[in-house]
Amino acid sequence: MKVLGLSGSHRHGNTEQMVKAALDVLKEKGFEVEYVSLADLDIKYCTDCGACKNAFTCSQKDDVMALLARMREADAIIAGSPTYFAGVSGRLKSFFDRTLPLRRQGMMLKDKVGAALAVGGSRNGGQELVVSQIHSWMLLHEMMVVGDRKTAHFGGICVGRSLGDALKDEVGMETVKNTALKVAEALGRLG
Ligand SMILES: Cc1cc2nc3c(=O)[nH]c(=O)nc-3n(C[C@H](O)[C@H](O)[C@H](O)COP(=O)(O)O)c2cc1C
Repeated sequence: MKVLGLSGSHRHGNTEQMVKAALDVLKEKGFEVEYVSLADLDIKYCTDCGACKNAFTCSQKDDVMALLARMREADAIIAGSPTYFAGVSGRLKSFFDRTLPLRRQGMMLKDKVGAALAVGGSRNGGQELVVSQIHSWMLLHEMMVVGDRKTAHFGGICVGRSLGDALKDEVGMETVKNTALKVAEALGRLG
């Protein structure tokens, strides 16, 4: 079974390290994993042109449709974002909007397992709101959302501002790893 990890940061920073740490746990458990940083992709806005109402296509010419095809092949998706003004990054939100073809053409993410990771510079800087925003996107795709386990949070949440800070947040990284273990547990039940 395959798990796709997405980082919604504009840079190769804390979110990336958290998503990769979660994927490492899943790889150790025997899952196939793939990492994608949205920072490396050209992502234009959804303009509500309606093209995806009739076919699995998009009028925007960029990197998004290729990524949507990869998402279709995953059994689980872990999406991470930095906290930006108590919400997901604009890059991740733009990408979420562009996933409309997946929903319109047969609810293609339905029943895939989904989990969320968030990092913010402040301890209570809105990371839970970010996780909730990611969960909402997953629920609109009829995915099966999981949180973490044992640490009893909503997903993986770290505090960090400078590059590498998240990895130093031991409590936060435990929630990241437990989120990955919860994804593994859910996939185990499905498989
Ligand atoms: C425009 C902007 C807005 C931010 N807003 C918040 C915020 O609301 N709460 C918070 O805790 N951190 C905030 N931060 C800090 C980032 O979430 C933090 O630096 C994070 O580690 C960045 O993740 P990255 O390294 O994956 O890009 C903000 C940073 C920027 C640049």
